[in-house]
Amino acid sequence: MDKSIKVVVTGAAGQIAYSLIPRLIDGNTFGDKIVDLALVEIPQVVDKLKGLVMELEDSYFPQMGKVTYTDNFEEASKDADWFLLVGSIPRGIVYNGKKIEERSDLLSINGGIFVEQGKAIGSYGKDNAKILVVGNPANTNAFIGKNAANNDNQLWMAMTMLDSNRAKSILAKKTNNNVSDVKNMIIWGNHSPTMYPDSENALISGDLGSSVINDMNWIESEFIPNVQQRGKAVIDARGASSATSAAKAAIDTVIACENPTEPGNCFSAAIASDGAYDVPEGIICGYPLMTLDDGTIEIKRDISLSDFAKTKFKVSIDELLSERDAVKHLMK
Ligand code: NAD
Ligand code: LMR
Repeated sequence: MDKSIKVVVTGAAGQIAYSLIPRLIDGNTFGDKIVDLALVEIPQVVDKLKGLVMELEDSYFPQMGKVTYTDNFEEASKDADWFLLVGSIPRGIVYNGKKIEERSDLLSINGGIFVEQGKAIGSYGKDNAKILVVGNPANTNAFIGKNAANNDNQLWMAMTMLDSNRAKSILAKKTNNNVSDVKNMIIWGNHSPTMYPDSENALISGDLGSSVINDMNWIESEFIPNVQQRGKAVIDARGASSATSAAKAAIDTVIACENPTEPGNCFSAAIASDGAYDVPEGIICGYPLMTLDDGTIEIKRDISLSDFAKTKFKVSIDELLSERDAVKHLMK
């Protein structure tokens, strides 16, 4: 097995990255592999990364390999195994004189970033590279990037692990369990207020959520909207979008991809639909995923969805289709 790994992180001077980057080299995420980091920023702030690199050097991380920083994404991409694409504008800030309130506002601002980055990843990243898009709107940014990369051996994902972790926390509180007792917390669809967090198929201390929680009113009027709107609730409370929880979720996604999934379990991320669960092919949709023993990542296909779930899921699929139409001009 290769004992070193190269990870590219964009938005490396941002708030998520500040929590994320140290965890990539702490020995938990990639085990005993030596991790080379290529940190990427826009030209205006790239020099700030000097300070971050100094801090990493001062932190004594035995798994830390070579650390470089640049504003040249192509250069950073060469032979990379993982790309954590965080770099983009968050909600809650004023951009060009307008307060960015909705994720849809980000579509036009951030979408373009992923064309150039996608091309570079397709040409210079490793053929089996994995790409996790965190920057919003994550699903459609991944859709744009994957199209530009035009390399089907690489795996493009958008992050829904944060939503899954949030949903686990709410279900654990509701049922007086620990978060670790809640598994298989699937987020179907888009990382947006239309996502469908599936409490029915979650396993709570080994039992299906549908048998543990017999309160549809709570599910519909509290659980689902609270998960869907948690990002906004954090922005309202903190004055900035979620960062440490987003970083933890990115790490959880990497760990879930790097290690075989326990039999019967799954984890949440959005990947390109191949028609599974009747989702139109190509859109980057939140699914239950499994990592097989050989490292392949596949959609878990044996989940049964209630009529209620199908109705909710369809709303999110329709939103992804309309986002796809809105970025047609960025497709070649
Ligand atoms: P931030 O503003 O603190 O940091 C973003 C950084 O990205 C900035 O330093 C900026 O200079 C950099 N950047 C912008 N364009 C870039 C480019 N083309 N190449 C490289 N770097 C670039 O924002 P943040 O709080 O770290 O959030 C980053 C993104 O993550 C936002 O879009 C936010 O909405 C999103 N987010 C997603 C999730 C999720 O669950 N998917 C959760 C939280 C935040
Ligand atoms: C989140 O879910 O916290 C992020 O996507 C940030 C946001 O804008 O909601």
